[in-house]
Amino acid sequence: MKPQLNLKRIAYGADYNPEQWPEKTVSEDIELMKEAGVDMVSLGIFSWAKYEPTEGEYHFEWLLKIMDQLHEAGIMVDLATGTASPPIWLAKKYPETLPHNAAGVPLGFGSRQQYAPASPKFREKMRELVKALAQVVKDHPALKMWHVSNEFGCHVWESFDPHTISAFQNWLENKYKNIDTLNHAWATSFWSQTYGSFNDVSAPGLMPTFTNPAHLLDWKRFGSDMLIELLDVELEVLREVTPQIPVTTNFMEFYPQIDYWKMAKRLDVISDDCYPDPADPASPAREAFAGDLMRSLAGSRPYLLMEQTTAAVQWRPTGNSSKRPGQFKTWSLSRVARGANGILHFQWRQSPGGAEAMHSAMVPHSGRDSYIWKQVVDLGNILQRFTTDSGKETNFLNEVPTAQVAIVLDWDAVWAAQCSIGPVSFDPYKQLVSWYKTCYEAGYVVDFVESGADLSKYKLTIVPGQIATKPELLSSFESASKAGGTILVCAPFGIYDQTMRTVIGGYHGDFTTTTGVKVTDLCVATDSDYERWAEVDPKVDRISGAVVTPATEKVKIVVTDEHLFPACEEFEVEKVLEADKWAELVRPQEDVRVLATFASEGAACDIAGQPAITARPWNEGKVVYLATDLAAPGRAVLLRTISECAGLPQNNCLSAGVEVISRGEFTFVFNHGEETVPLPSGQKVYDLVSEGEVSTVSPRDCVIYRH
Ligand code: GLA
Repeated sequence: MKPQLNLKRIAYGADYNPEQWPEKTVSEDIELMKEAGVDMVSLGIFSWAKYEPTEGEYHFEWLLKIMDQLHEAGIMVDLATGTASPPIWLAKKYPETLPHNAAGVPLGFGSRQQYAPASPKFREKMRELVKALAQVVKDHPALKMWHVSNEFGCHVWESFDPHTISAFQNWLENKYKNIDTLNHAWATSFWSQTYGSFNDVSAPGLMPTFTNPAHLLDWKRFGSDMLIELLDVELEVLREVTPQIPVTTNFMEFYPQIDYWKMAKRLDVISDDCYPDPADPASPAREAFAGDLMRSLAGSRPYLLMEQTTAAVQWRPTGNSSKRPGQFKTWSLSRVARGANGILHFQWRQSPGGAEAMHSAMVPHSGRDSYIWKQVVDLGNILQRFTTDSGKETNFLNEVPTAQVAIVLDWDAVWAAQCSIGPVSFDPYKQLVSWYKTCYEAGYVVDFVESGADLSKYKLTIVPGQIATKPELLSSFESASKAGGTILVCAPFGIYDQTMRTVIGGYHGDFTTTTGVKVTDLCVATDSDYERWAEVDPKVDRISGAVVTPATEKVKIVVTDEHLFPACEEFEVEKVLEADKWAELVRPQEDVRVLATFASEGAACDIAGQPAITARPWNEGKVVYLATDLAAPGRAVLLRTISECAGLPQNNCLSAGVEVISRGEFTFVFNHGEETVPLPSGQKVYDLVSEGEVSTVSPRDCVIYRH
């Protein structure tokens, strides 16, 4: 069994960076932490230079002193290994540890994270530090969790230095064993790219034109593996010295460069950092997305929100607005509703200087005399109530909400889409998020699942576009359909295999037995900023003015099956639905029913009347195939229809802005809108947040009650 983080209540706290302040500030900080109900801090995240100011000379006495003080105050320490930002001596003495950009130029010192993940010297020095640190603190009672590095890959996820290139060659040799296998997989007979040995293969740095997509895909896989290996180096030390202490590292919502499924399996506690933009109306959905994803990565177990902020960040190039009144509390509690057992922040005290001095914190520059501080204390109080209100202990910390829908998330498929050169810039993240958001708006909790996962417990599974598809996905489909589930598969799907070789004989290949269609032709639209050879004015240009170019429009489809009509009416949308740029000509099998066809207007007019949405029975369930990339109204119509057929609950009578979710014995009702709304149950309840009887929820507020 994995080491556990034993919590008595929802943890509350922050990254704590006392080295930015005079020593005496620590006692003041601890008093403030007590006032706010803080019971966990992450220490040492960027402390390598203080842990080891010169090579091999370790200074941990300051750390032990602070850990003693924190322990005395009942505050748990999530201790960082400090390896995320190496000190100057490492860069100067071992310049080979610096990451190199695609042009082979080393990145300089003076920022953070200046290391090449595959650098043997960096790994050696990192291992020495972690060992020295672990040995010093191993019996300290404040040490409750290890925090390895910080946001792996946040700034640097690849390096084009000689050590990394040779690690890539070894990685390839290990994977392909002989060079002919690589040559076949990468289709190197094209453009005369055939390799004679693994030593010939370089990193896909700057090149005259397009890089071989399979080369790029393996580079991405290698990059992810290098970062996971880096975690392993630290884990090996920590497991040996402190086997009883759980280990985490902070994820960054959906981060495209690391296969978090792989990384999550190595960790004891899943945690993430989340900074939705208060200027974005989809931010509550984004919080929910991150919450559902972390809970899924934790294996349907609780997780920690390791970093968020109280008001505004400082790093958005487009401007940094503050959370509106109520949003700090409401968004934090929405993470609790989706399984968070801790709400922590970057950072405790707002920095007095440096790159993040303008980033909000729990203690702002103005100190206690601030709006932020009041919010911080209020939230700290609320978080304590889940386990202690009325003195009644609950099992809350072991509970998670139940998901109704599964969404398949596969990092390889994301990378493959990024590596594919044409036919149109397909953004797999956008499609994933779009389908998630449609589920969120419909009131569903979502579990993210891997290709190959058993899906038998889900009535509905959504597979956002996977341009390259893993064979094991077929067994997931079988598990879902044998249990009577519905599977919605979205284009583009099954175009490449795992080495970016295309599926010959009609896309979907072996998956045609499931989807019931094969794709024979693509008919994609052009990006809106398409390139025109010359100005065309139909008034005077007799020939060019007569040429019609539907490809510059959006794809449109027509709903033809009456099962979709009620949802069109409910959402007040026309039966012509807009999509974006993708359209496919599909050949359906005999048992396939057509639910919608391509319209005679828009980008896909040349395949008007051909199937755009199909459905077929398969085993005990159904498979729906969407041969385009529907916009929000179309997704809402399709989801409403298939979720109803699949027997999922329909939340179509909630007020605008209202999100309802249950975790354990509590129901959370969030009002993200601007109008006070009645509780959906229509009853008066005892609200944990306001500690009183209520029957309505105020704007940007939430009510939590025992159901
Ligand atoms: C990340 C990092 C923190 C800090 C915040 C700022 O999450 O982990 O060190 O830089 O961003 O938002």
